[in-house]
Amino acid sequence: MITMIAAAAENNALGKDNDLVWHLPDDFKRFKDLTSGHHIIMGRKTYETFPKLLPNRIHIVITRKKDYKAPGCIVVHSLKDALDQVKDDEHPYIIGGGEIYKIGLEFSQKIELTRVHCDYDADTFFPEFDEKEWELVHEEFHPKDERHECAFTYLTYIKKDN
Ligand SMILES: NC(=O)c1ccc[n+]([C@@H]2O[C@H](COP(=O)([O-])OP(=O)(O)OC[C@H]3O[C@@H](n4cnc5c(N)ncnc54)[C@H](OP(=O)(O)O)[C@@H]3O)[C@@H](O)[C@H]2O)c1
Repeated sequence: MITMIAAAAENNALGKDNDLVWHLPDDFKRFKDLTSGHHIIMGRKTYETFPKLLPNRIHIVITRKKDYKAPGCIVVHSLKDALDQVKDDEHPYIIGGGEIYKIGLEFSQKIELTRVHCDYDADTFFPEFDEKEWELVHEEFHPKDERHECAFTYLTYIKKDN
């Protein structure tokens, strides 16, 4: 099951200036818990936002640059090549950013979307998806508190059978 995992604001904002625009520690922890032990597929720009590799995950970086080097990662040149690399993983994750979510939507069976209940100024957005094609199977609200500047809701969608 290929899962896209993302945190997007009410206006679908994902990030700005190649960085995230919020700090939500409980969402980070959930991201870590879900993705640990699995392949994580990302665009080159998202890879370049990481100060270091995320422990206990196999990083697959998608780029059109044929000579691109990403030490400790598998570098591929298309989403198809990325998906070929994860055939033995029952739960690979597509972790962004905006360009990769857009092309990943049709290949994914699940979306783990953290909907952040604020609007942010952004330059990268989660793609619109047809909610009629997806079933919301889990919804969990997390209030705003001293560690979280915004309330948010974990939403799990499964792609309906065609
Ligand atoms: N909120 C969240 O959950 C979340 C998650 C992840 C990222 N983000 C944010 O999203 C932003 C980055 O997203 P982004 O959309 O700018 O970039 P991105 O999707 O991370 O990476 C884009 C790059 O991927 C490569 N690429 C895209 N399509 C390709 C294709 N069809 N074939 C081969 N390579 C392809 C290209 O790399 P080359 O230019 O090297 O060819 C392209 O420049 C940052 O602000 C980051 O913080 C947010």
